Amino acid sequence: TDRVTDAIAAFKAGDPILAYDSADRENEVDMVYPACVVQPADVARMRNDAGGLICVALSDAVTATLELPFAREAIDHPVAASDSLEYDARSASSLTVNHRDTFTGITDRDRAVTISELGALAAEPCLGTFVEQFRSPGHVQLLRAAPELLADRRGHTEFAVALAQNANRPPAAVVCEMLDDETGTALDPDDAKRYAESEGLVYVDMSDL
Ligand code: 5RP
Ligand code: CA
Ligand code: ZN
Repeated sequence: TDRVTDAIAAFKAGDPILAYDSADRENEVDMVYPACVVQPADVARMRNDAGGLICVALSDAVTATLELPFAREAIDHPVAASDSLEYDARSASSLTVNHRDTFTGITDRDRAVTISELGALAAEPCLGTFVEQFRSPGHVQLLRAAPELLADRRGHTEFAVALAQNANRPPAAVVCEMLDDETGTALDPDDAKRYAESEGLVYVDMSDL
């Protein structure tokens, strides 16, 4: 659709977009940026205007090179033995990380360093560089995209990585759910559309793809 073309153009320009999955999945809208462009003000915008968990989605190829497992495989505890999600076959969650050039890891500056450096690393993934430059656990949740992206799984993770690739950005994108400050629930898609209009952002309905 032309909304997707607009979203790719936004990613080329380094602007965020909003992506709604579908009524029969999470029924959520995520704010999504190419990871490599993220500055402290962008982390502040995700905290204040989106409000969900700030995650970086990486392509399957990058996570394979960086030897990043799924959380359910990496965490040796019975609580991680089964995903059993309500809305999908499996979670995309991997490890949490911080860049080593951070202090606590949670500040806007620290998370912007972690996120943008993940973007830079995704351009030229290398396990040695990853271990040298990052530590785990940290304050940015990594997500591992399915190998064939949307053909395999219809998550925000896969859509975000597909957008980055189509925009000739490294295959790393930050996603954060839009929540409603009044109700604490997921932001209604119509309210998210109004936010997109008032802020001049592209809004994509992934069920149209
Ligand atoms: C991380 C999440 C979000 O829903 C995020 O959108 C990634 O998940 P998915 O690919 O399943 O949509 O769970 O906070
Ligand atoms: Ca808010
Ligand atoms: Zn999602």
